[in-house]
Amino acid sequence: MKRNAGIWGLGRFIPERVLTNKDLEKMVDTTDEWIVTRTGISERRIADDDVATSDMTLAATRGALDQAGLNGADVDMIIVATVTPDMSFPSTACLLQDALGAEGAAAFDLQVGCTGFVYGLAVAEQFVASGQADFVVVAAGDILSRITNWEDRATCVLFGDAAGAAVVGPCRPGTGILSTYLGSDGSGADHLKMPGGGSRHPATAETVADRLHYLHMNGREVFKFAVRAMGRSAHEVVSRAGLRFSDIDCYIPHQANRRIIDASAARLGIPMEKVYINLDRFGNTSAATVPTALSEAWEQGVISPGDHILAVTFGAGLSWASAAIQMLKEKDRLA
Ligand code: UT7
Repeated sequence: MKRNAGIWGLGRFIPERVLTNKDLEKMVDTTDEWIVTRTGISERRIADDDVATSDMTLAATRGALDQAGLNGADVDMIIVATVTPDMSFPSTACLLQDALGAEGAAAFDLQVGCTGFVYGLAVAEQFVASGQADFVVVAAGDILSRITNWEDRATCVLFGDAAGAAVVGPCRPGTGILSTYLGSDGSGADHLKMPGGGSRHPATAETVADRLHYLHMNGREVFKFAVRAMGRSAHEVVSRAGLRFSDIDCYIPHQANRRIIDASAARLGIPMEKVYINLDRFGNTSAATVPTALSEAWEQGVISPGDHILAVTFGAGLSWASAAIQMLKEKDRLA
């Protein structure tokens, strides 16, 4: 039977510990005013020391499965989007598979930086629509605070920790994930990276002293790339879905900088009241920005069954990914 793939459930995990701009003023040469006006961020959350990415993605996934009315045994595939896995290998997805009791489920990590959740949705959609899987968990989580150089004011004010998850399952044709659009431009790889710890610069006392195990970013270049890539990516995915921007009920852009969000909404002609923003409270949570925003918006009734969502992301790679999604009504789900 022909079928689409849609979101059956959403969940999120937001750490309790809050780090405010005022706190950062005591750590680096910055001000609350600079951070708010240049980024739109007021505070961010920091994971407790004993919490790893698998713990956060597990909590988010449990929430998503509950909402879907499913349990671990129903899951055929687990994709974890992260650049801060518990360890290099095995994958964080395999740790989740065991914790969820998802016996025999395929499990792998997807490492595409901030675009990882939407990349994961696109992969899940292919497996579910083709009938090769019924239910796929797409979890996205990052603890960027562990790879942040807390002496670098240009980056440490931007990021926060969080996880979000979606359960993707079968639905009626014409509903659910209507289109996705993925891409990359590796010529910009140097603009956003963590150089140490891989095969190029394996960990040594020297790589640690040279701070190669921290996130390094050329913010201005990423900013320029983001504005270009978001416009192109949004137009492509909306046209692939057979929609117009006026059909979009809620725009969920990657939450990296308020100025990037405002500029992209203005260019696409989407009014700000249709843009969901949690950047002010959580900062840039990397792969988790879109699923945490989606999960909040759904729970608060900001988005409803039948609504059209546009998610547009950009990130390390450099890469971009977007999705046009119709949120499912009960009758759209194919059991
Ligand atoms: O998920 C993808 C990840 N990354 C991004 O999306 C980042 C995209 N880029 C950005 O959001 C912005 O480029 C930043 C917020 C990172 C920086 O904003 P900007 O307006 O591009 O600032 P800038 O880098 O051009 O720096 C302007 C000034 C500089 O001082 P001078 O050279 O003009 O004297 C910086 O040293 O602001 C200074 N500065 C700061 N001042 C106070 C940089 N960071 C800070 C800070 N507090 N935290």
